[in-house]
Amino acid sequence: MNSPLDNYLYDHAGELPQVLEWLENETLKQAGHHSKMLAGPVLGRFLIEFSKLVAPARILEIGTFTGYSAICLAQGLKSDGVLDALEKDERHLSLIKDGIERAGLTSKINLHFGDAKELIPQIKEEYDIVFIDANKREYCSYYNLAFNLVKPGGYILADNVLWYGKVIEETPPKDAQTQEILRFNEMVKNDRRVSGFILPLRDGLYVIRKL
Ligand SMILES: C[S@@+](CC[C@H](N)C(=O)[O-])C[C@H]1O[C@@H](n2cnc3c(N)ncnc32)[C@H](O)[C@@H]1O
Repeated sequence: MNSPLDNYLYDHAGELPQVLEWLENETLKQAGHHSKMLAGPVLGRFLIEFSKLVAPARILEIGTFTGYSAICLAQGLKSDGVLDALEKDERHLSLIKDGIERAGLTSKINLHFGDAKELIPQIKEEYDIVFIDANKREYCSYYNLAFNLVKPGGYILADNVLWYGKVIEETPPKDAQTQEILRFNEMVKNDRRVSGFILPLRDGLYVIRKL
């Protein structure tokens, strides 16, 4: 159930591209409770505005699910810009494709299926924005593998870095996801090649700029 704050933020996220409401409903139908993985309107609005501010030529998304955040991020691409979307699970392929087509982004979003840890080392492009939103147990690997692909002055955005508040518990749980998110947040904090801050939006978004 949403908190009153969630509802208020949701109510003030403004009008979003209609395809996103359609995609959220279809995701709920197809993926049931997994649909909560999708970014949703509040983070979605942030991703749209952030991308428009940066006006990226190229975006890398790690963890695409049904394509909601990819469609948001692609809104800010330069006219000839491209988003490379990495996703290991092909189960929702037709929904992703349908959403991207309805959003008019077929020529701008390239889908790559496979394990991001294997796909990233094969990439020869440079990115203005890398969005990390895949397996929480692998965040450090994604960051380290993708780091050299980020242009100086470019951004890495990492979602869920507050991990439902578990990272600030006095004794954080020992499960692999919480422990990796804690490791990731410490690693970024101590990385002198970047500056960053955690935006307490939804489940926490680390906004990291490569110096
Ligand atoms: C939280 S969901 C992504 C949500 C999506 N960014 C959005 O906001 O709509 C995480 C996705 O990462 C994918 N994933 C997990 N591990 C992966 C890996 N090693 N490589 C590629 N994708 C992975 C999962 O299959 C899942 O679809």
